[in-house]
Amino acid sequence: MKERETFASRLGFVLISAGCAIGLGNVWRFPYIVGQYGGAAFVLIYLVFLVAMGLPIMAMEFAVGRASRKSIIVSFQELEPKGTKWHWYGWFGMAGNYLLMMFYTTIAGWLLMYFFKIAAGQFEGLDKSGVEQSFGTMVSQPGIQLLFMAIVVVLGMVICSRGLRNGVEKANKFMMLCLLCLLVILAIRAITLPGAIKGLEFYLVPNFDNLMYDANGNFRLGEAIYAAMGQAFFTLSLGIGAMAIFGSYIGKDRRLFGETISVGILDTCVAFVSGLIIFPSAFAFGVNPDAGSNLIFITLPNVFNAMPGGRLWGALFFVFLFFAALSTITAVFENILACWMDKWGVSRGKAVAINLVLIFLLSLPCLLGNNIWSGIKILGMGVMDFEDFLVSNNLLPLGSVIYLLFCCLSKKIAWGFDGFLAEADQGKGVRFPAKLRMYFTVVVPIIVLIIFVMGYIEKFA
Ligand code: ALA
Repeated sequence: MKERETFASRLGFVLISAGCAIGLGNVWRFPYIVGQYGGAAFVLIYLVFLVAMGLPIMAMEFAVGRASRKSIIVSFQELEPKGTKWHWYGWFGMAGNYLLMMFYTTIAGWLLMYFFKIAAGQFEGLDKSGVEQSFGTMVSQPGIQLLFMAIVVVLGMVICSRGLRNGVEKANKFMMLCLLCLLVILAIRAITLPGAIKGLEFYLVPNFDNLMYDANGNFRLGEAIYAAMGQAFFTLSLGIGAMAIFGSYIGKDRRLFGETISVGILDTCVAFVSGLIIFPSAFAFGVNPDAGSNLIFITLPNVFNAMPGGRLWGALFFVFLFFAALSTITAVFENILACWMDKWGVSRGKAVAINLVLIFLLSLPCLLGNNIWSGIKILGMGVMDFEDFLVSNNLLPLGSVIYLLFCCLSKKIAWGFDGFLAEADQGKGVRFPAKLRMYFTVVVPIIVLIIFVMGYIEKFA
């Protein structure tokens, strides 16, 4: 059998895992959710979830990947006790990867389109309603969106077709390093704008009233906690094996919790600094930071319009966003391709060809849901929101609980804590906090499930 590929370097592994984590969740979702829930107080809750739940679960994913040397579709099968059914989850996890890509490719296409639009000066001279109209026109036209979505899918697949080391690892290293440089340059620009201080205050000084009550004075702490947890799982791409796959490509010389901490720090820094770019800019130019998911597409072009040299800064900003999205796309594509190669033994080339077509087709409902199919509502949501809801509110938290239980329950019914710990602690680096086993086995799943149910009640009540 062909030997499984491995990363060329440890840096490659950390950067590609960070690339998978760093995506729209950091540069688009994080700032707008923070804006909606009132800034720093929300960030504190989010950080608690990230550290107390997200990082340990990521270590568990890496361990399942490294011990099985397989992608999610077959990894459980390799490690579960005979007769158990953990491997059923492999199918849901794989579906989660497709679902994530089904809306991610469209949004990444918008980012690319915005880069060209801003660089070409197409927003120059437009006022607020002009930019809004331009966004509305873009979303209402399937043709142009289709073109950019197709470019994204092809680009991602071309990178993956070159293999793990020569394709995904090289491209992600390059994108991550560019992204980190752009991040610093843009943050310095934003916080030195006149009037930026108000944005920094909003972002960095906790205001618990904003967290607990919405603009109409309604109590909404539960909703905020739910959003913070969802964001922690989303940003780390947990629960669907998107991280586990990279565990399957590394050697045993480093302990996994230490690697997890590096990935978590990089991910958090990018999200945090994205806020340092967006809030000072928004406040400096009198733009409302709680515009929701439209923040970067409708409000920020106004900011760049008003900024001296805005065409350059805006273009750089959208390159930054696009690299963040493309790094996640290539990482998740790699996971999907590995599932095909592991499960059905097809070659990488064949897996690329099949999935190029498949993901293009699967991306259509989201794209058309913004225009031709805008009348379609599922549980009251449009197509994009529904796909996001299925992944972010269901598969990521529930999949995370599956990984938790698989690694922490007794080895009679699951992989078991001893097997997990032996894998996670192999090599040099930070040990996994084994003393907290009961907390991981009992407390974390219960908290996730309670918050999960609360979220449903709140959403549909
Ligand atoms: N972790 C990915 C992101 O943050 C899904 O966008």
